[in-house]
Formats: sequence, C-alpha cells, structure tokens
Amino acid sequence: MSVQDIRLMGDPVLTTPALEVVNFDKELRQLVADLTETMQEAGGAGLAAPQIGVSLRVFTYDVDGVVGHLINPNLDLSEELQYGLEGCLSIPDLAFDCVRAMNVVAKGFNMFGEPVVIEGSELMARALQHETDHLDGVLFVDRLNPDTRKEAMKAIRESDWFTPEMQIKESPHSIIKGFM
Ligand code: CO
Repeated sequence: MSVQDIRLMGDPVLTTPALEVVNFDKELRQLVADLTETMQEAGGAGLAAPQIGVSLRVFTYDVDGVVGHLINPNLDLSEELQYGLEGCLSIPDLAFDCVRAMNVVAKGFNMFGEPVVIEGSELMARALQHETDHLDGVLFVDRLNPDTRKEAMKAIRESDWFTPEMQIKESPHSIIKGFM
C-alpha cells in the first residue's frame, strides 16, 4: 500500500468521466488499498480513483468510522434533500453549502466482483453522491447555486494551491438546473 498524490482542481483527470471496471484483479485491489490509505492520511470522508490519477469507477469512503469502497456505482436518490457544507480533497481548505439528496441507495460491486448495496443517509449519502460525481468528471462546485458558485470560484482562484496555468473548465451545461 502507498499514499498517492491527490490531484487538484484544474487537473484534466478530474473532469474526465472514468471507465467502468472490467477486471476485478490484483491491480484493482491494490488501487482500493491505495485509495483507502491516501483518504485516511488526508482525513477525508471519501476519495475517488480519478483523484489519484486513475480514471476508473472506484471510490472509497470513511464516514463516522464506516470504511468501505464501491466499484461501478449506480445511485438511487431520495426526493428529500439535505442542506449543508461540502468540501473536496481536490479543492483544499474550502467548503460551501451544497444541496444533496438526503438518502441514497448505492448499488455496485466490491473489489472481488461481488454485488453490494450500500444505503446511506445524511453524511454517508452526501459522500456517496460526491464520490460518484467524481467518477462522472463532476466536481461539487458544479452543484452549487449560482451565487455560491461565484463565491467558490473566486475563493479557488485566490487559493495558494491554485496556479494561473490551471484551466478551470466551466461546465458546458448547468447541472444545478437538472438537479434542483
Ligand atoms: Co471530492
């Protein structure tokens, strides 16, 4: 196992839809181990494979001491919503109000290729949605309402880790309209 570098917003891998996992092999289990270790060292509630530069549909989570992973996830979202702060290890030291579904049923596979179902509410539901978004090349700033998003983009551009060479892609379509 080894801790990997976490890619920051502006890295194209974070806006590229990740590929379905086909081979549930030793390399996949190593990826899950690396993600888990990197997530825990960073103190995150979740980490998706693209965040360590691997464009595969795999993420790990660590919510209230419940640690796990999910591969090729498919989410069913509740109509009930939750409101609260959200952050991302790829957008360090910033958090903004982000609307999410309150309850999620996530179906997918474990690293051995066995089907699994994870049901989550509140923070777990938020983590499952946030990490699945990463696999679709979506960052949580794309989920913010327009005013909050403006504030977020300003804060990002003023961040120490942000360099002007970074090309921050604006979403070609508004996700928020479809979401709310
Ligand atoms: Co994130």
